[in-house]
Amino acid sequence: MIVLGIESSCDETAASIVKDGTKILSSIIATQIDVHHKYGGVVPELASRMHIEAITPVVDEAIKKADISLEDIDAVAATRGPGLIGALLVGFTFAKSLAWARHLPFAGVNHLEAHIYSLFLSNSKPEFPFIALVVSGGHTNIYHVTSYTNFELMGQTRDDAAGEAFDKVAKMMGLGYPGGPIIERLAKTKNPASIKFPRTLLEKGSFDFSFSGLKSSVARYIHDNKIATPDEKAQIAASFQEAVIDVLSQKLITAALHKNCRNIGVSGGVSANQTFVNKLTQKANFQKINIFAPPVELCGDNAAMIAARGYIMIQQGQLCRLSHDVFSRTKID
Ligand code: KG4
Ligand code: ZN
Repeated sequence: MIVLGIESSCDETAASIVKDGTKILSSIIATQIDVHHKYGGVVPELASRMHIEAITPVVDEAIKKADISLEDIDAVAATRGPGLIGALLVGFTFAKSLAWARHLPFAGVNHLEAHIYSLFLSNSKPEFPFIALVVSGGHTNIYHVTSYTNFELMGQTRDDAAGEAFDKVAKMMGLGYPGGPIIERLAKTKNPASIKFPRTLLEKGSFDFSFSGLKSSVARYIHDNKIATPDEKAQIAASFQEAVIDVLSQKLITAALHKNCRNIGVSGGVSANQTFVNKLTQKANFQKINIFAPPVELCGDNAAMIAARGYIMIQQGQLCRLSHDVFSRTKID
């Protein structure tokens, strides 16, 4: 079965053709980073407009790159939520119209479940059951995943998402958007132990996260020490990143031990951070736990993961009707 996947929940317009749920024939991502960069974050109204401009050429290119024609597509899947409503509406309505016009089955995909599915698009996939982290600009969620359709939410952030903290810390230091890759690059040049920022672990036994204290602590440090030079900024980047990595790693490994899982899969934009994946792997290996991450190009928002999730929904008859709408926030399931 050939599925066209479409993603437009935030600042990436993406389309992908995936065969039988796992074979990526094409994956096109048009990013709006250049537009949002100067505002230090995503401007929702601009995002919607850019999606409208990009959606047709991006879908055309995905079909062309896959070396198929529109007639070869058997089903359509698009992100239904969570995300920015105006942005979601562009991809979802486009996909729904295409499916309706061509009498194709149509699945409305949960973006967070799709991030977990990016792990199944890798050559090396985690076996069930496993602990999954979805860590992005909007979410820091830990799940216990026992099958392709069973995701138990164990914990989530109570304030900022980890990616959001990266973005805000980068913005404080005037480094631009998105902050994650910039901070990771700068951090490589410095000792991560030189500034001791807080590690907030919350109550014992909780798998929730809180990154706002860390963010405030970095803001105070920048203000009190009048941080200005590239060297000082790199020092903060390294120490801040280490604090985030410590908290994510500790919660994930504790969750795996709690559920007696030997496998952890990380997904979402922040899982593109190689320092994070490497340090987590080292720590987890001590406990004989294996770490899985998608290929870097599938860590951030993409449509291959939407097509992969949509494929299973279509197989199981979980289809969207014409009356179905997008949603901005919801629990996974
Ligand atoms: O999954 P994603 O592309 O979009 C959302 O669904 O939010 O994640 C974007 C987030 C941004 O906050 C960005 O700063 C972060 O992922 N990110 C990173 C890295 N690359 C992207 N964070 C840390 N290190 C990176 N290398
Ligand atoms: Zn995402």
